[in-house]
Amino acid sequence: MKLKILVTAGDGIGPEVTREAVAVLNEVAALSGHTMEIAEARIGGVAIVKDGNPLPQATIDAALDSDAVLLGAVGGNEFNSLAPDKRPEAGLLGLRSALGGFANLRPAFAFKELAVNSPLRPEIVDGADILFVRELLGGLYFGQPRAWDRAKGEAWNTMRYTRDEVVRVARIAFQLAQKRGKKLTSVDKANVLEVSQLWRATVTEIAAEFPDVTLEHQYVDAMSMHLMNRPRDFDVVLTENLFGDILTDESAVITGSLGMLPSATLGGKVNFYEPVHGSAPDIAGKGLANPLGAIMSGALLLRYSGGLEKEAKVIEASVRKVLEQGFRTTDLVRGDKTGLTVLSTTAMGVKVRETVKTLLA
Ligand code: IPM
Ligand code: MN
Repeated sequence: MKLKILVTAGDGIGPEVTREAVAVLNEVAALSGHTMEIAEARIGGVAIVKDGNPLPQATIDAALDSDAVLLGAVGGNEFNSLAPDKRPEAGLLGLRSALGGFANLRPAFAFKELAVNSPLRPEIVDGADILFVRELLGGLYFGQPRAWDRAKGEAWNTMRYTRDEVVRVARIAFQLAQKRGKKLTSVDKANVLEVSQLWRATVTEIAAEFPDVTLEHQYVDAMSMHLMNRPRDFDVVLTENLFGDILTDESAVITGSLGMLPSATLGGKVNFYEPVHGSAPDIAGKGLANPLGAIMSGALLLRYSGGLEKEAKVIEASVRKVLEQGFRTTDLVRGDKTGLTVLSTTAMGVKVRETVKTLLA
């Protein structure tokens, strides 16, 4: 199997964490006989500085010409005063829309070893394993009209969905639920928003195609509380773009660190993989970043773009193993450090690679 991967490392800690993810993928390639052809392209702040644009055409072309895209993170404080369409984030949103992936899979799971790291009590998070399916190409992020009329002192965005946009992401969520715990929770604000009423009606209609999956609906405000009170009750959680953005950051609390969470975006021309965390400019370049979210995004890449289930599992098992052995990046330490070894970004990458090597040998 040959995989052509475009890496868009981006800003802040993006380059540090993707470097480790790529090194793990190269290790897997060397040991398994699969070929990974890796190219790089600019996106975000680094592209604004070098190309005058957060998403150069060359990056779009290279992405469309690859089998998968692995992204680091975008954004930086020096761009905070720019209009939304000029900011680093616009590069990411533009690439998402150019690639066309609409189903953003964001697993949030509790690692036994990290239970002490979560502010939630261990008996609440223990065993929690949620797969968020966040719709990624609609809603407030892309709805028109949108503007800030400075003279009038008025600004507006549009939360808009078509039935078809809900149908396609709902089908993916139901299919994933069929392969997991057979339960789907759809999150909306149907007590207030017409767009949520369309969402709820459409998801209910699609549920008829999946009689083996139990569907429940939750309002987003209540859901944000249920996630902290009883995270183990959820299996697949389907929601629109902004609600998904918010709820997946919230769910990092279940795992104990945002740095642990990977994501995969499916359904478009080229699938797209990125850790859930941002560019974290405050810790960039210091070797403090947790590369495990990026490394596990690489595992998702092998699974969904390469069909390499065994290799994906080996990476995930390696991450679990280094945690079991007490290795941590700083974000994974809270309170008592007894028995733990705190590693830099690169040292954590080395540990994962060593384990991958043993497990694949
Ligand atoms: C995420 C990020 C992005 C989003 C930003 C950087 C545009 O927060 O991937 O969750 O809002 O989708
Ligand atoms: Mn986010």
